[in-house]
Amino acid sequence: MALFITFEGGEGSGKTAQARALHRKLARLNIPVVLLHEPGGTSLGRRIARWLKWVQDAEMSPLSELLLFNASRAQLVAEVIRPNLVNGKVVICDRYTDSTIVYQGYGRGLDMELVRATNGAATGGLVPDLTVLLDVPVEEGFARKCVKARDRFEQEDIAFHQRVGEGYLKLAQAEPERWLVIDGCQSRARIAQIIWGRVSQLLGGVGVGGA
Ligand code: TMP
Repeated sequence: MALFITFEGGEGSGKTAQARALHRKLARLNIPVVLLHEPGGTSLGRRIARWLKWVQDAEMSPLSELLLFNASRAQLVAEVIRPNLVNGKVVICDRYTDSTIVYQGYGRGLDMELVRATNGAATGGLVPDLTVLLDVPVEEGFARKCVKARDRFEQEDIAFHQRVGEGYLKLAQAEPERWLVIDGCQSRARIAQIIWGRVSQLLGGVGVGGA
């Protein structure tokens, strides 16, 4: 059964680990599933992602950033997401359009109409069936991250990341039927159980019981 699930959250929220755990769980149940990450997921997208995260020797305006994230996304939607949904697979994407709304809209201060219109152009209006938000205080998220080098976004100040976190909560409040907001400070196992509760429901009750 085709299902489009996205994971969202600030830095160090644990969403990547949960996206992977859900992918493993579905694969174990022999449910056809694909796991993707934004920016990236295609050959073109991976190149764009390197610029977005690591370009240090050139200025990148917020508008260029918005367009590059959506260039990567347009490729991913056309090349991978839509064909897999058409084939009846579950598609899990670690970050999607909501990341752009909170990072480029709330974080960078770009006009929201412009951000939404650009997202819409890149995706052709494809909206997830379920978006999981792992909500973790900014300081806690950064304390969890142990990275050798900080990318352009990790180098932003705490106020930027606070705006991102608050932006997520506003989006979730505005569309409660799409969003599953989880306190990301709970144990990994408990979070996985909550996610599985919702996903198995959407899949019509498969494998209910185990986390
Ligand atoms: P990640 O690979 O660690 O998730 O890093 C991706 C970074 O890019 C993260 O800091 C969030 C940021 N980002 C945006 O600013 N806008 C977007 O649309 C997406 C997908 C990610």
